[in-house]
Amino acid sequence: MDLEAFFKNQNEKKQLKILTCGSVDDGKSTLLGRLMYDSKNIYSDQLSQTQTESKKYGTQGKEVDLALLIDGLQAEREQGITIDVAYRYFETEKCKFIVADTPGHEEYTRNMATGASNSDIGIILVDASKGILDQTKRHTFILSLLGIENIIVAINKMDLIDYDEITYKEIIRFFKLISSQFNFKTEKFIPISALRGDNVFIRKKNIHWYKGKTLIEELEQINLVDAEEDDFSMPVQWVNRLSSNFRGFSGTISSGKVKINDEVQVLPSKQKNRIKKILTPSGEKDFAIKDQAVTFTFDKEIDISRGNLICSNEKHNYFSSDQFASHIIWMNKEEMLPERNYIFRFINSQILGKITDLVHKVNINTFDKIASKSLSLNEIGYCKVALNKNTIFNSYKNNKKLGSFVIIDQFNNQTLAAGVIDHELRRASNISWQNMSINKNLRSSSNGQQPCILWFTGLSGSGKSTIANIIEQKLHQLGKHTYLLDGDNVRHGLNKDLGFTDTDRVENIRRIAEVSKLMVDAGLITIVSFISPFKSERKMARALVEEHEFIEIFVDTSINECEKRDPKGLYKKARAGQLKNFTGIDSNYEKPHSPEIILKTENNNAEDLAEQVLQYLKNNNKI
Ligand code: ADX
Repeated sequence: MDLEAFFKNQNEKKQLKILTCGSVDDGKSTLLGRLMYDSKNIYSDQLSQTQTESKKYGTQGKEVDLALLIDGLQAEREQGITIDVAYRYFETEKCKFIVADTPGHEEYTRNMATGASNSDIGIILVDASKGILDQTKRHTFILSLLGIENIIVAINKMDLIDYDEITYKEIIRFFKLISSQFNFKTEKFIPISALRGDNVFIRKKNIHWYKGKTLIEELEQINLVDAEEDDFSMPVQWVNRLSSNFRGFSGTISSGKVKINDEVQVLPSKQKNRIKKILTPSGEKDFAIKDQAVTFTFDKEIDISRGNLICSNEKHNYFSSDQFASHIIWMNKEEMLPERNYIFRFINSQILGKITDLVHKVNINTFDKIASKSLSLNEIGYCKVALNKNTIFNSYKNNKKLGSFVIIDQFNNQTLAAGVIDHELRRASNISWQNMSINKNLRSSSNGQQPCILWFTGLSGSGKSTIANIIEQKLHQLGKHTYLLDGDNVRHGLNKDLGFTDTDRVENIRRIAEVSKLMVDAGLITIVSFISPFKSERKMARALVEEHEFIEIFVDTSINECEKRDPKGLYKKARAGQLKNFTGIDSNYEKPHSPEIILKTENNNAEDLAEQVLQYLKNNNKI
């Protein structure tokens, strides 16, 4: 919202952000239509369009199909389900409402989470004729996870069960069994019929036994914690040096309120300073509050950079760390793999990191914690995260903006997951790096060589180990110090515990990348011969050493040729269904995009190919 509008609103009505959720067909769209229709927030052109469309989509003689007012997306009308978060606005005399209309279809947990993260109240719709469904449980869990404190359970379609009080009470009893596991501050129940308008805006005699408030009364009267009471915080998004004598610090206030002359603290440096000016798009102000975009100037010059946090000078509970525990909602078809590098995007920074540990995943229907190695689409897990460097964060409970993050794929920029931070993990701060007297340079000069990694990647049977073996012999003859790490061999010892699922392969390569890094540090020419099928892990291995030390060698042999060779009879087994997750058959191989060397084995012999690699090493002064 822009500033002018905000200040105008401040003196006006209370504003509420509502999230509606429920299963497909629970009547969300009808309820929203009802809220807009009865609050007279529907324009006459929308109404006439809906009447026309009602005819087109056949609404069984109803004059206006309220759901059609809301189902704005053509696709969703055709599929009969809602497929994205849509925001609706309506107002009453007392209140302005922004409603996030989230989908009820199981696949769209993601949109539900998006809608929930900035809502004040969750309306959970239950179809009285169906009772509590798995979706209801899932949504209740997500609402709780995302810190929604106030929920209203609207038990809809009461007309379909003849306004039966006993069924209504039974639904409430069942719901309370679920919600007792969470910590909602307010939890209200209302029997409604969105279609007939019962207990939405108007109390009708249909539900004569219900003496409570209507939905709109409940919404208007709900008490929210005043966001301004929170401690002030603002991540610095931009250091503004518009002229030589101006230094301002810009960002959006993530919590609380700040005034000129307030003493604030800058993290992580913990330096103190006093706010001199608060500049906003509509001029200089005396104070500013949550969600406003501002630029501050300070009394004295101190070092502040992008990613720092300006916060109130009171006791604060921010962490500056690289590790934390958090809940993650996985939102992508590609499964989550522990130890894979992802981009973690916070409000104040974007850092490469990984999920080191999936502590448990949550069975969304029973809320049981179950052991698992990975997360698939729509699954929720409790994880430990390790970042490549420190960032400033808070727990989600204390600060929604500084306690949440999204996970992004480093190759295609897709959003993979959303996370809410539980607490910091301190492990990292108790371990420091020891500098030893004998280092890589000394070791390699006494070896008379430049250490590096020759990283062979390719399908099983492509010829990696054969060529790697010849190269090692040749280097040995030249008096070079080498070590050959081979997939099959290492899997007999160090990696004995790993199989061939994606998760295990990621861990396999992580360990080998770390081992090769140590070997480079030992001054060795390290030859690595692993299928290493994923570009993400090859990139990770490359990043562990200096750029010139990593030589990726793609042994380019077609699957047909590998299968023809089939030296260990594994392709045959895999084709017969006796070997699962076999690379190239039912497990993916991602070809390198720009390897340093490509070896074509189908028209060349192994000797010549080994010679080609040796030539590369000579040309690049490695040997
Ligand atoms: S990687 O994918 O994790 O890099 P790695 O190179 O360690 O694999 O091991 C591959 C070797 O394990 C193959 O050469 C083959 O001999 C053997 N193997 C056994 N099962 C499989 C499988 N399902 N997929 C691929 N290789 C397998």
